[in-house]
Amino acid sequence: MTEHVQGGKVRTRYIATQGVKEYRATIDEYVKPDDIVLEVGCEWGTTTVLLAEQCREVIGVDIGKEPIERARERHPGIRFEQMDAYDMRAILTLGRRFTKVYVDLSGLSGYHSLLDLLSLLNMYTAVLRPDVIVVKSSALKRLAQRCIAWQQPARRRA
Ligand SMILES: C[S@@+](CC[C@H](N)C(=O)[O-])C[C@H]1O[C@@H](n2cnc3c(N)ncnc32)[C@H](O)[C@@H]1O
Repeated sequence: MTEHVQGGKVRTRYIATQGVKEYRATIDEYVKPDDIVLEVGCEWGTTTVLLAEQCREVIGVDIGKEPIERARERHPGIRFEQMDAYDMRAILTLGRRFTKVYVDLSGLSGYHSLLDLLSLLNMYTAVLRPDVIVVKSSALKRLAQRCIAWQQPARRRA
């Protein structure tokens, strides 16, 4: 049983980061040599190439035509595709069982985009079932810092 499936349920963990430095710093911590990684919002592939150094395979996708053309020119050994991160059908055509997903979409850091981000995370969790999703979003990081998963304390013995 892989670590992200317990009792038949997906246990995808979400890592919320603020800024590109933190986003990239997670690579050493979470990406392993056997991983197949998807980066959505790869732009010119600057993070994708760092991911490629640490995993079996990485695919970078971006909605922009120019970023993808530039990423392909700069990093010819890496696969880059132009697609919308919210277009799950397109993502599925990549045909991989992604174990880690990196999300860095412009406009997703603000408080008002939290609902969009949560629905994206929900969709990726349900369909791709990765172990970990790393997100660059200061709003999500702030929310995570304020959340506590309530657990009933164990009953005190008399
Ligand atoms: C901050 S840049 C990414 C930087 C890159 N991850 C890095 O580390 O160098 C954000 C990217 O998100 C892309 N983007 C925005 N909305 C998107 C969407 N719906 N689907 C895919 N890419 C999107 C933009 O085109 C832009 O290139």
